[in-house]
Amino acid sequence: MLGRLITFEGGEGCGKSTQIKRLASQLTDLGYRVRELREPGGTALGEKIRFLLKHDPAGQGMVPEAELLLMNASRAQLVREVIRPALESGEIVLCDRFYDSTVAYQSGGRGLSLDLVNSVIGHAVGETRPHLTLLLQVGREEARRRVASRTAATAGPVDRFEQEKEAFFLRVESAYEQIAREESSRVRCIPAEGEPEAVSARIWEAVEKILPKSR
Ligand code: TMP
Repeated sequence: MLGRLITFEGGEGCGKSTQIKRLASQLTDLGYRVRELREPGGTALGEKIRFLLKHDPAGQGMVPEAELLLMNASRAQLVREVIRPALESGEIVLCDRFYDSTVAYQSGGRGLSLDLVNSVIGHAVGETRPHLTLLLQVGREEARRRVASRTAATAGPVDRFEQEKEAFFLRVESAYEQIAREESSRVRCIPAEGEPEAVSARIWEAVEKILPKSR
């Protein structure tokens, strides 16, 4: 039995984590076996790479090419160690970010060529591609507000990406818009401002169409 790979995408502060939790519990209640993952991360090796990418002081001077390869090292491990076996056993895999993030951040944001980025992604994922991608969209002002209140609440350190300038996030956003235009059969844009319940309902409408019949 083949499962489904559903990926969540969007800029910081778009509400992905909340929505992944809501969807996971809806699916579990219906009897589906659900796996929640995040990128970079999701394996022991991937979580170390995540720390390097986001928080380790050694990452401060990281060049875009190194960032691209580290993101995809984490991804190559996650695909083979976790995603493929889970899909083969019929699970619904919900992944907080996947390769569209690399196109948006390393190509759109950092300016690496799309050919280079797509070629590295190809090595990392092979034929393992999402059945559905949900692109959560919020205006930049709302996104900034959410990130600021999260940072204040956790008093956590701002990570290497959150330190970027506004122009970087605008390039990320427009790269996402381009992906959505070019891959409209896979990528669904979800307006993500307003009540979480309303956002969940939009997500469910897209998800129920691709669920396998058997659980
Ligand atoms: P997040 O888990 O808070 O979304 O943090 C992950 C950060 O890494 C986020 O700023 C987006 C960035 N990222 C990339 O730049 N490229 C990628 O391929 C992935 C998966 C994430």
